[in-house]
Amino acid sequence: MNAQQLQEMLQCSKALAHSPWTSTQVHPELDSTQKRAWQTIQEASPHWTMGAVVALQQNAGRGRLGRTWSSPPGNIYVSTMVRRNEPPTKSPSWAPLAGLAVASILRRYWSLPAQVKWPNDVLVNGRKICGVLNEARGEWRVTGIGINVNSNLHHFPDELRPIVTTMAEELSHPVDLASLLELLLIELAAREEQFRSLGFSLPVDDYLEVMAFLGQPAQISLPGGESVAVVTGVREDGALIVRNDRGELLAVTVGEVIHVRKR
Ligand code: BTN
Repeated sequence: MNAQQLQEMLQCSKALAHSPWTSTQVHPELDSTQKRAWQTIQEASPHWTMGAVVALQQNAGRGRLGRTWSSPPGNIYVSTMVRRNEPPTKSPSWAPLAGLAVASILRRYWSLPAQVKWPNDVLVNGRKICGVLNEARGEWRVTGIGINVNSNLHHFPDELRPIVTTMAEELSHPVDLASLLELLLIELAAREEQFRSLGFSLPVDDYLEVMAFLGQPAQISLPGGESVAVVTGVREDGALIVRNDRGELLAVTVGEVIHVRKR
């Protein structure tokens, strides 16, 4: 599957023809789809409200907290551009939506036991299969989604190999990138619609169904350091709820659950 075939699929897809994705671009290789998405917004002054930049490989993929995102060929790298219409007070609640969307399609169409590790990492059998980078500036949100699909685990750096997995590795067969991309964009649009219909709130029940470590102790990274706490849920505004060793319930808005299983 090359970039041109993927672009043709996006243009010919009947399911996407009626979707809100009015601008899509597919590239064989980019430094970062995230960077290209922000350039597109700045340079093109878009008249549309939802668009996507897709690449089959990245040479400077960006992860959360200033990390790099290993982006070998065989996988899919997507940045969605959504014009915000939520009130500023509702801002954080959209952050876990993309992880929820990815976990939902991996479960529904490939029967993979995908879970979301708050806020947004998607795990299968305890290993990371997808990462999400949310950024917002002015009236735009750009959400970067990297899904490990068909790439060989040997193409990942040594330190990542024990903690990552791919769809092909879990399924023991390769996955059609075009179908995955089509289903992903449709699910993201549906989740966006659901988010708006809930008054810009996270669909908490859906999130809890796929939430990793629910009811279990996990290592939580907080701005002030790391601590172990029991993951008890998520709020409508996207905050993680944990119980600390004194039995107190705490809402975490900045940080992440950091435990990932090693091979
Ligand atoms: C993380 O888990 O640290 C987030 C990783 C986000 C990676 C995606 S791949 C598509 C988009 N372009 C980037 O450069 N980063 C995001």
